[in-house]
Amino acid sequence: MFYLCCFNVNNKLSILMGKFTIPDKVLYVCVGSKCGKRGGKDMFKLAKSYAKHHHGPEEIEVIETECTDRCKYAPICSIQPGNTWLKEYHPKDVLKLMDLI
Ligand code: FES
Repeated sequence: MFYLCCFNVNNKLSILMGKFTIPDKVLYVCVGSKCGKRGGKDMFKLAKSYAKHHHGPEEIEVIETECTDRCKYAPICSIQPGNTWLKEYHPKDVLKLMDLI
C-alpha cells in the first residue's frame, strides 16, 4: 500500500490516508480534436466501461489524453507498459489489446 504525501500551503507535511493505486496497465486514449471526431471520445467511454466490467481498477486504468501530435493517424491510443500504440484503430482492436497485454 502506498500513501500520497504532500506539503500544504504552510509547508507542513500531510499524509493523505487514501489508498494510492498503481494499475498494472494504463490505456491512454487520445480525445484531442482530430481523434475525438474520429471515434476517440466514444472509444474512451467504451474502454472505460470495458475495463470496469472486465478488469479491476488495479489491473487496467483508462485515461483520456489531449492531442499527442499524431493527428495524421487519428484516432490513436497507447497502452503502457510496453509502449504499444494503435493508429487508425477499430474499437474491437483496442478491446482485444486490453485483454492481451
Ligand atoms: S488529436 Fe489525437 S493525435 Fe492529435
